[in-house]
Amino acid sequence: MLVRIKEMLEQVEHLTANSAEDIEALRIKYLSKKGEITALMNDFRNVPAEQKKEVGIKINELKQRAMEIINDLKQSVAQTDTEEADIDITRTAYPIQLGTRHPLTIVKNEIIDIFSRLGFSLAEGPEVEDDWHVFSSMNFAEDHPARDMQDTFFVEAHPDIILRTHTSSVQARVMERQQPPIRVICPGRVYRNEAISARAHCFFHQVEGLYVDKEVSFTDLMQVLLLFAKEMFGEDTKIRMRPSYFPFTEPSAEMDVSCTLCKGKGCNMCKGSGWLEILGCGMVHPNVLELNGIDPTKYKGYAFGMGIERIANLKYQVKDLRLFSENDERFLKEFEAAN
Ligand code: DAH
Repeated sequence: MLVRIKEMLEQVEHLTANSAEDIEALRIKYLSKKGEITALMNDFRNVPAEQKKEVGIKINELKQRAMEIINDLKQSVAQTDTEEADIDITRTAYPIQLGTRHPLTIVKNEIIDIFSRLGFSLAEGPEVEDDWHVFSSMNFAEDHPARDMQDTFFVEAHPDIILRTHTSSVQARVMERQQPPIRVICPGRVYRNEAISARAHCFFHQVEGLYVDKEVSFTDLMQVLLLFAKEMFGEDTKIRMRPSYFPFTEPSAEMDVSCTLCKGKGCNMCKGSGWLEILGCGMVHPNVLELNGIDPTKYKGYAFGMGIERIANLKYQVKDLRLFSENDERFLKEFEAAN
């Protein structure tokens, strides 16, 4: 009997289990009613009286030990189970969601795409500019009231250094380093000292266009802008030109497109007129060519400038300009499909 107990203790000490089922099988094998340890205990009555005390102690120790070991196995299996259960199933699933392009980037890329198909290449200039490139080279006389048309941010220590108020400054940057033919579009951020509201902001974005060559006419300008409007707002879009004034163009015009919402019938967005203003344009003023090193007796040019926010508003009916710079994900996500 003592030998059997010793052997079984040896077995029990080396038990292993990988799952709750394994453990239950062990429990049944050793400790259940028909289990091996229970069988030993049942045999106890056949043990001679003089050995009963010692055998009794050993059997109890064996049973005790078997219970302990099975319990320990249970614990370690349960622990591995909870390690698996520790995975946070509420965490964002892979693959992590990609961001969306900003609506202004979407519109800017579309404008660039349309004009690059017409042979325009991209040009950029600095946002912190000097007075020459923003005003003087664009034919704003020193005391010209037109300078007051735009509220300028000045860099305090340098009265000559300003934040550009329009991308027309890039026209000058291009002309000073390149002779015609010139065909560029210049997207960029501009700054004006305005109180922030739903309709105005202290910074916004523009795209400037400049074309300089030997034979350039106002009709060329209109054709290119008509094509742009159709590509941007749809094939049946119409355009019209209204006379205007800019120091850097002569003649100057403002261009309207037929209302993108009511298609020209008249609605709230176009205030019943059927037309929406989208850009300024004109023939490059001979003074501007001359100031920037291009011979106005040989060359002519046209130019135009539009606000990207304005175009985005007309395409997507964004009512409040501030939404463009607040980075509210709910707003940005609305443009997922346009990406
Ligand atoms: N610079 C003008 C503005 O900021 C826009 C503009 C008008 C640009 C006419 C041009 C142009 O190139 O020809 O309001």
